Amino acid sequence: MEERVNRPGRSPLVRVVDRLDERFRVRALWKSIAEHEVPAHVNWMYCLGGITFFLFGVQAITGIIMAFYYKPHPELAYQSVQFIVYKLPLGWLIRTMHRWAANGMVLMVILHMLRVFFTGSYKKPRQLNWVVGVFLFVITFAFAITGFLLPWDQQAYWGTSELLKVVQGTPLIGPVLAGILRGGAMVGAVTLRRFFALHVWALPASIIILLGIHFVVVRRQGISGPL
Ligand code: HEM
Repeated sequence: MEERVNRPGRSPLVRVVDRLDERFRVRALWKSIAEHEVPAHVNWMYCLGGITFFLFGVQAITGIIMAFYYKPHPELAYQSVQFIVYKLPLGWLIRTMHRWAANGMVLMVILHMLRVFFTGSYKKPRQLNWVVGVFLFVITFAFAITGFLLPWDQQAYWGTSELLKVVQGTPLIGPVLAGILRGGAMVGAVTLRRFFALHVWALPASIIILLGIHFVVVRRQGISGPL
């Protein structure tokens, strides 16, 4: 291996790959992914999880770009979104992609879950991935709900106020949960800050960890067999 890494005349990129290969065996990993055989029964419905993941990628990239300009403060939030849409070059495109991909991700995660359910793929030995999936499902909706408030316009404000009343009505945990999320008697500055922190820190961190588990388990167990 040392010999290959130090061989003269190799491009810098190949040398970087060689170094990575030496440490993490990236070539072998890539080979095992690229040459992995897809069973004959796997059809387009088995792509729904992958599409959900692709849309999550779109959300992450467009979300990070918007986070450079968004200001989670009641007096600045609305203007900062207006800035992104009307002043920032291609800002309108970034924001529109974020909105469409958000809706798409919610739709795709529902369809993916239905595929898993109707093909019985939640059964032994895949119970763990079903449970992880339920958390992923809740997190996807939490992303949508927390993101909905951030533009801080009339729809966001009153929609969230009503939604928190629904949360409050949940038996046992409702009043405490709604109180924590709202952070006061009414939706206000604290609510906005909390929703922002959830949307850009807590939820992304949780989804990345859970997706890691989800994919490792799928890879170890292989995709479920035909019906
Ligand atoms: C962010 C959300 C999610 C992403 C990105 C995701 C991604 C994936 C991918 C790429 C696969 C392999 C290919 C496929 O079956 O489509 C998969 C499999 C699986 N997912 Fe998800 N998933 C998500 C949410 C869920 C949910 C909500 C559930 C169920 C509650 C779930 C349960 C499963 C199970 C049981 C498998 C194994 C299926 C099999 O072996 O046939 N996932 N997921």
